[in-house]
Amino acid sequence: MKILVTGAGGFIGSNLVARLSFARKDAEIICMTRNAKKLKKKISNNSHVKIAEANVMDYAQIKDVLSEVDIAYYLIHSMEGVSAKEWKKFAEKDRKAAENFAKAATECKVKRIIYLGGLIHEEKSSTNSKRAQNKISEHMQSRIEVGNILQTSSAQVTIFRAAVILGKDGASYKMLRYLVERLPVMVCPKWVLTYSQPISIDDVITYLVKSIENEQTEGKEFDIGGPDTLRYIDMMRRYAKVINKKFLKIIIIPFLTPRLSSYWVELITPTKASLVRPLIESLKYEAVVRDNSIKKIIPIQLKTFEEAIIAAKAKEDENKEN
Ligand SMILES: NC(=O)c1ccc[n+]([C@@H]2O[C@H](COP(=O)([O-])OP(=O)(O)OC[C@H]3O[C@@H](n4cnc5c(N)ncnc54)[C@H](OP(=O)(O)O)[C@@H]3O)[C@@H](O)[C@H]2O)c1
Repeated sequence: MKILVTGAGGFIGSNLVARLSFARKDAEIICMTRNAKKLKKKISNNSHVKIAEANVMDYAQIKDVLSEVDIAYYLIHSMEGVSAKEWKKFAEKDRKAAENFAKAATECKVKRIIYLGGLIHEEKSSTNSKRAQNKISEHMQSRIEVGNILQTSSAQVTIFRAAVILGKDGASYKMLRYLVERLPVMVCPKWVLTYSQPISIDDVITYLVKSIENEQTEGKEFDIGGPDTLRYIDMMRRYAKVINKKFLKIIIIPFLTPRLSSYWVELITPTKASLVRPLIESLKYEAVVRDNSIKKIIPIQLKTFEEAIIAAKAKEDENKEN
């Protein structure tokens, strides 16, 4: 069996490859990237794990990589490396990428595609008012569009939807970590009061890996989230508790826009404004699990918020030692 992991060098993709290389020794794992040299340094040397260099924007290249692939994970996202001015172009790029992928997957007779998108619910509204349309960020709209495009392929498409994913190297974790660790007093916009359901990267990877062993997930969509439903302000307070930080004052300023917030987050943390902005835009909208059906199909002991943070910190320490 041939399993393709696109975005293999990304946050989710690299964690998935690490797990699959142990869990699926029976399969050939193909890791797709635009820069094989860079990825080679990141992944461990296993004879059943191979690297394929391709750009999804190039139809011939993606078709070549997909030939003889049985199952493909779609973890491509074009937010990285763009300037603050250009960040809105990601939707255009992600649309084209998904179209190429869906077409090539059909031609290559790929059996299954597993896609991880964002946890958001499009509110059904009878009116077409601006208010109704504004219930979802452009970033999330694009993630939904990508899922819809992939579903046009002949493969069985499984869609997982996650909100904040907590893990070492994840933008959400890094933002939380640097803000809480570096600042005693914080001025925050209103989005810190929106509810979200963070999930540990380890649990996301378990769902992704187990879904290909379970036919019941074929052609279905699932919300995935951890056991805690929290506002960003709660996450900051609970993070402070984990690291034993006694003093953390949070002042909420309602008129602070996502654009302004992203600039000060860039100033304080090592995360680029172009990456933070869509994250903050998304945080304005509630991201809570509504459909729990995955729990029956893939029952796992989900990590709490604190356990997810402790696991991320342990991975950071592990890396420092090596
Ligand atoms: N991170 C989160 O907290 C989070 C939360 C919820 C959902 N998700 C979803 O999970 C998925 C993966 O996110 P992530 O955080 O892992 O993203 P990421 O770290 O930014 O990785 C994105 C990957 O996309 C690949 N890519 C971009 N443009 C490409 C192109 N033209 N051709 C081929 N590959 C291309 C990049 O590969 P190379 O640079 O190696 O070519 C990169 O490894 C996304 O769909 C995202 O919506 C993530």
